[in-house]
Amino acid sequence: MKFRWLKVIGLALFAAILAALFVSGLWRAFVGPKARAVTNRTFESTPARLERGKYLVENVTGCLHCHSDRDWKGDGSPVKGREGAGTFFYGAPGTLHAPNITPDKETGVGSWSDDELARAIREGVSRDGRALFPIMPYMNYRQMSDEDLAAVIVYLRTLPPISNAVEKPKLDFPLNFLVNTMPQPLDSPVPAADVSTQVKRGEHLLTLASCSDCHTPQEKGAPIPGMFLAGGFMLNEPPGEVTSTNITPDPSGIPYYDETLFLEMMRTGQVKARKLNITMPWNLYGKMSDDDLKAIFAYLKTVPAVSHKVDNTVPATPCKVCKGKHGFGDRN
Ligand code: HEC
Ligand code: HEC
Repeated sequence: MKFRWLKVIGLALFAAILAALFVSGLWRAFVGPKARAVTNRTFESTPARLERGKYLVENVTGCLHCHSDRDWKGDGSPVKGREGAGTFFYGAPGTLHAPNITPDKETGVGSWSDDELARAIREGVSRDGRALFPIMPYMNYRQMSDEDLAAVIVYLRTLPPISNAVEKPKLDFPLNFLVNTMPQPLDSPVPAADVSTQVKRGEHLLTLASCSDCHTPQEKGAPIPGMFLAGGFMLNEPPGEVTSTNITPDPSGIPYYDETLFLEMMRTGQVKARKLNITMPWNLYGKMSDDDLKAIFAYLKTVPAVSHKVDNTVPATPCKVCKGKHGFGDRN
């Protein structure tokens, strides 16, 4: 008798847990990501698309900066002749290498359809239905217009194919489950972004360039609310540990920047005599047009000022504002 009741309570609990998982959307963690079926749409290659795709990939979105081994002894550019071949390692809990995105048929994306690529880039679902880890900034690319997406894919197809088999990712528990809850399918067309003012254009470019993925501090993998672009996020790429800096207009950020200094820094990696760590990929963004860089700067001047002192020239100390550890942490 007693045991039967226990069984009923057990079943009720089990049902309650299932219901809670369902309501929270966490059940996705166990059954795999939400994904739409791929279509057979194709993107025609045109000179305009090739030009736009090359500009976006090489100067704005940084696909090749992540998807290639890098010349860390030099200026941090993708190693010549290995562009897009993958294997740059990421410090996610577990093992995560950037895959080969050259058109090689066996080890790259040469046999993927255009829509399979489109779904991976903007919706975070790989060809086999697996959720991509969001270091791949698909959340930012979600606002990439259909036309820009077509341009990126058409350009990717023209990269020299390189044979390089990259190890599949192995994320640690619970990340291997949690990644499945993130992808959201795009079921309607994405029109061109509203770039009617310089500031709006800058905001869109800053998103496509994923500046905030590095410059906004995170807690447990999520951006800390109220600290957009306020720096303090610890990065640990081959040049060693360095934190992103505060790029808001606050006195502790970059209030002293004007358009000329911003362009100079993006083009040379130097703020006057101070040389920036090459983890800041200035050599990638530095090739953007003057107009695009000026738009990004115009937008930066409008973001909320956040008081947060960060300095890489002094030893790291714990910071109670971002809960991280960085130079001047103890002064916040
Ligand atoms: C900040 C680094 C970063 C940037 C920028 C980036 N990627 Fe990725 N990308 C990754 C990582 C890491 C993965 C692997 C994720 C995983 O397997 O969970 C990935 C996965 C992919 C995949 C899936 C490949 C496969 O075999 O599953 C494609 C396709 C892709 N990226 C294309 C692009 C394109 C195109 C761009 C530029 C528009 C881009 N990526 C920009 C890091 C990046
Ligand atoms: C891969 C991570 C990463 C990305 C992406 C990134 N940054 Fe940075 N950035 C850094 C780091 C790290 C530093 C600090 C370098 C140092 O102190 O030597 C930095 C420094 C800067 C500085 C110099 C601030 C100062 O102290 O004078 C500016 C300005 C800046 N970034 C703007 C941007 C913009 C704009 C974007 C996007 C277009 C961007 N960053 C994208 C990592 C990144």
